[in-house]
Amino acid sequence: MAVIALVSAKGSPGVTTAALAAALSWHRRLVLAECDPAGGSVLAGYLGGALDGPRGLGELAVGELRDGNLESAFWSQLVDLDAPKRERLLLPGVVDPAQAGSVTPLWQRFADFFTGLEKGVPPYDVLVDCGRLQVGGPPWPVLRAAAVVLLVTRAHLPDLSATRATIKAIERDFAEHRVPPGTLRLLVVGDGHGTSEISKALRLPVIARLPHDPRTAAVLGRGGTVRANRPLLRAASQLEVPVRALLDRRRARLAWPGAPVPRPVTAPSTPGVSGAV
Ligand SMILES: Nc1ncnc2c1ncn2[C@@H]1O[C@H](COP(=O)(O)OP(=O)(O)O)[C@@H](O)[C@H]1O
Ligand SMILES: [Mg+2]
Repeated sequence: MAVIALVSAKGSPGVTTAALAAALSWHRRLVLAECDPAGGSVLAGYLGGALDGPRGLGELAVGELRDGNLESAFWSQLVDLDAPKRERLLLPGVVDPAQAGSVTPLWQRFADFFTGLEKGVPPYDVLVDCGRLQVGGPPWPVLRAAAVVLLVTRAHLPDLSATRATIKAIERDFAEHRVPPGTLRLLVVGDGHGTSEISKALRLPVIARLPHDPRTAAVLGRGGTVRANRPLLRAASQLEVPVRALLDRRRARLAWPGAPVPRPVTAPSTPGVSGAV
């Protein structure tokens, strides 16, 4: 399918939780890449830090800067999210934010590499946790290269006003860098204002809404067994449907500008998830 980036304006609306919940229920081969410059958390949290040595984006960056070996080193830096299948893999983020310095000059390189993974044999989708934008050194090249950018927000006024400012910043940047329009969508987490109200106020479609589910979020943050029937997991497992529909429509439009647009796919009814794209 493609590179799908998740990012927030500021605060902690649940980007990592949403990305991990979606990754665990993704139906295609997938790499979850933690590109939050503030550091990754899935390895130490959900996976309980059970590894024999340092692994992930930081190691990859050091190797690439030293030897230019991203292609050959990439797969050995991944961790299984569903061992032993190797179908859903994690690229752990930097552990120490100080490591982010070696990663920052490589965002474009990583963006290009991630984009190539969908054309690999076998192909992999890449879900990228880009953290929050209002910090130094966000992975802009990854956001620009992504086929879909999900701006994650809570549904209360302070979050929405920060998100509104971030939409403007992203749209400005994308226009400057000639990113084809239509990649940005909102992913709303939890209770608060209504979905259509948010979409109207922020002038951006809401692709889906994830429910407030603190029990599941806690397991995803600290480790343990997640049950697929939990509300958050059920909703996250449906995210792929509107994302795919959006991609299909954009690709059809780019390939045949005058051609009829495929009809949107409606997600099977799952509590907390809107089928809107
Ligand atoms: N859908 C949710 N329901 C309830 N709590 C959530 C949900 N998503 C995230 N949280 C909680 O919010 C906090 C921040 O989540 P996290 O995913 O780390 O945010 P971010 O990556 O945006 O900083 C964590 O305590 C997490 O358990
Ligand atoms: Mg996070």
